Amino acid sequence: MNRNIKLSDITYYVGVNDRRTHLFENLWPLTEGIAYNAYLINDEKTVLIDSVEASKTDQFIQEIKSILGDKPLDYLIVNHTEPDHSSSLISLLKTYPNLCIIGNKVTFRFLDGFYGEWKNKKIVEHDDTLSTGKHQLRFYSTPMVHWPDTMMTFDETDGILFSGDAFGSFKTLDGGIFDDELNLNEYEEEIRRYYSNIVGKYGKSVQRAFTLLKNVPIKMIASTHGPIFRKNLNWVLSRYDRWSKGETLPGVVVIYGSMYGHTEEMADYIARKLKETGIPDVRVYDASKTHPSYILSDVWQYSGVVLASPAYNNELFPSIKNIVEKFLERKMTSRYVGVIGTATWSGGGVKALNGLVKTLGWEAVGESIEAKYTAKSSDFDQCDLLSKALAEHIL
Ligand code: FEO
Repeated sequence: MNRNIKLSDITYYVGVNDRRTHLFENLWPLTEGIAYNAYLINDEKTVLIDSVEASKTDQFIQEIKSILGDKPLDYLIVNHTEPDHSSSLISLLKTYPNLCIIGNKVTFRFLDGFYGEWKNKKIVEHDDTLSTGKHQLRFYSTPMVHWPDTMMTFDETDGILFSGDAFGSFKTLDGGIFDDELNLNEYEEEIRRYYSNIVGKYGKSVQRAFTLLKNVPIKMIASTHGPIFRKNLNWVLSRYDRWSKGETLPGVVVIYGSMYGHTEEMADYIARKLKETGIPDVRVYDASKTHPSYILSDVWQYSGVVLASPAYNNELFPSIKNIVEKFLERKMTSRYVGVIGTATWSGGGVKALNGLVKTLGWEAVGESIEAKYTAKSSDFDQCDLLSKALAEHIL
């Protein structure tokens, strides 16, 4: 197959879609699939930038061969060694035995660890360049966006930034490859879910990369997943800037665990009251049903959270504990939070939540509410007060 998808005269998109894999990193749902993006520069020297996940190797190599014909593939630039971008390497090397791999010192530490020692290699450092003939490529060291090996490659001739995982997305590229060929609104949630789930922990590293690239004349952003941006660069740059700074929008995510519906009733009630106060976005999730991936993504963008848990074995409800751990792992800060829940005999869920809120460093708003058995009118009155207090902080 040769789709002949060109980023410029001599630069091609040779990525693949994966609609079969259920979980990215065997953790995060791929309800709408994912694209593994790779790029081929067919200059005097031929250069592949990033590769794809092993299951798509045949299609990938076939497309490279159909573009290059009898020409050899001279270089493979590995911006990031995570196996979704490197597990087709051994097959590539069988097809192109003289292939020289370009990466930094950490790249080769990881590649050697995964696949055995690499002989034909070129180690580059930050700000090094590579001439391919008509084009000049420059390498930028951007560790921890997403792994310590991560670097970006900038084609100075065409102004294309090959950004690795940065600016990436879940969701396949269904015909449309470039931002102006698809509806970005359909990608927004999946770009944010990708950011918050995969890269979000490393916001400071993303900000360092922004500083590094401040004066680079970028005309196109070509990530390893999701759309290529050539018209609306600021659409994705502004969102990444906001997310990596931890800036939020006014809104509340109500997250509850509930065995028999009593805590759920309180969660639904408080969601309605929050909406009545004028909070623009209110979202409610049953933590036992919705995968943490989606909840995490919403909490990433909103300033308010309500955590609701029954007591379970005198402790926090397990699915609530699970999602709060995701917030802790990512060191998510600066949220206004209300805590509610139910108890049957000794309680424990609300107490445990209050402790975790302190550990998170979130600002607890109002009094936490623990209803006995089921919420009564006095508990709902307290929910009214809590929603008003949250609105005062958020709006
Ligand atoms: Fe797309 Fe960090 O790998």
